[in-house]
Amino acid sequence: MSESSPKTGAERLQAVKGMYDLLPPDSRRLAEIERIGHEVLQAHGYAQVHTPLVEYTPLFARSIGEETDIVEKEMYTFEDRDGRSLTLRPEGTASVVRAFNEHAQHKAEPVTLWYYIGPMFRHERWQRGRYRQFHQLGVEALGVADPGIDAEMLAMLVDLLDRVGLPPGSTELRLNSLGCPVCRPVHREALLAYLAPREPELCEDCRRRFRQNPLRVLDCKVEGCRVIAQQAPKTLETLCAECLEHWSGLVAALDALAVEHQVDHRLVRGLDYYNRTTFELISSAGNLGSQNTVAGGGRYDGLVELLGGPSTPAVGFAMGLERLLLALDGPPLPPLAEVGVVTQGAEARRSVLALARELRRRGVRVDVDHRGSSIKSQMKRANRLGARVVLLVGGDELGRGVVTLRRMEDSQQQEVPRDDALARVLELLQKGQG
Ligand code: HAM
Repeated sequence: MSESSPKTGAERLQAVKGMYDLLPPDSRRLAEIERIGHEVLQAHGYAQVHTPLVEYTPLFARSIGEETDIVEKEMYTFEDRDGRSLTLRPEGTASVVRAFNEHAQHKAEPVTLWYYIGPMFRHERWQRGRYRQFHQLGVEALGVADPGIDAEMLAMLVDLLDRVGLPPGSTELRLNSLGCPVCRPVHREALLAYLAPREPELCEDCRRRFRQNPLRVLDCKVEGCRVIAQQAPKTLETLCAECLEHWSGLVAALDALAVEHQVDHRLVRGLDYYNRTTFELISSAGNLGSQNTVAGGGRYDGLVELLGGPSTPAVGFAMGLERLLLALDGPPLPPLAEVGVVTQGAEARRSVLALARELRRRGVRVDVDHRGSSIKSQMKRANRLGARVVLLVGGDELGRGVVTLRRMEDSQQQEVPRDDALARVLELLQKGQG
């Protein structure tokens, strides 16, 4: 960023390219999605965890994989003042597993069910639905190998999307199995044999890394590679007996839960830690465009051990919250205020402050207009905020110790003694007085 260019974001004090401000009403919609998320996940026994936004760089290189797009070209990596290489987290699973190991969580509980909500950072090519800072809601279940938990997790994902208002029928759950260290080499050999004669047709990235990690080609978005991938040997064809049993168990449990899904042989995911179950949830709703993968995840039975912990099976997914916002019309937002306090003069205003406070203590959303503007303009604002009741105190009401309550839907007005106002407002809002 050169000093002589007056147009750079830094000099004009703009947000970093690919990052953005989330303002109302979008920020309120995000908060509502998060609220529903907490509710649904906690109903399934998951507890929220918070891990730092930055980690030592080797954590991501070792878990996500040196030859992945994320590690090769998308991480925000920098040295701190002690000369250690730090990275802004590009995803949450690595941090969760690091925390699981660091706190020897396996000793505390045989099954660990955790979730997280927060920003992730990837220096990707910016476009609608793909940002350099974005939010994920992620879920990780550690300690269970049985595919029943994979299926329940998928049902939970589908139910969560339903609860936040994604139109039913607009989503598709794609599923695959990648096998395990026993059967993966068999598939790898078959895939290498298939790819080797086609090497000249692969994209530059795939040519460079396909011998190291041939699965990357199946995941590549470049058109030529996609065509080649379509006819490539499928992981499901080379599964060992145990992986096949796991896969059949998963499909049977999904059927028992009536969770619809499609098998997608090309679904190998862009992170190296996966084995067996992998899945993505695609949505055709709203304004998603080409970035239509709302959630992705799978099993990572080897990762805990790879990062220095005990052998622990695990499965999880993460959902992109900005993508959900793009896909959704809702969820419907509650009004900013249920009661608007409109007053004439500072003394009238002071006379109802305690009443407004009491209403708020009872969970009522109250706006007190402190601008000192005309009654008309205050009424207009109360209306815009969505108030169902306006509590009005003019000079006349002040002198007589009363307030006027106006029901906005039918403009009905009533005058009540100030001491009765609390009960009357709650009644008008049909809220219990408890
Ligand atoms: P992922 O597929 O890299 O998986 O990301 C999960 C979701 O995050 C994507 O499906 C997408 O909705 C959202 N997402 C990813 N990158 C961006 C971006 N640049 N802008 C906006 N949204 C984005 C993971 O991160 C794994 N940790 C998921 C997981 C958890 N697997 C097991 N446990």
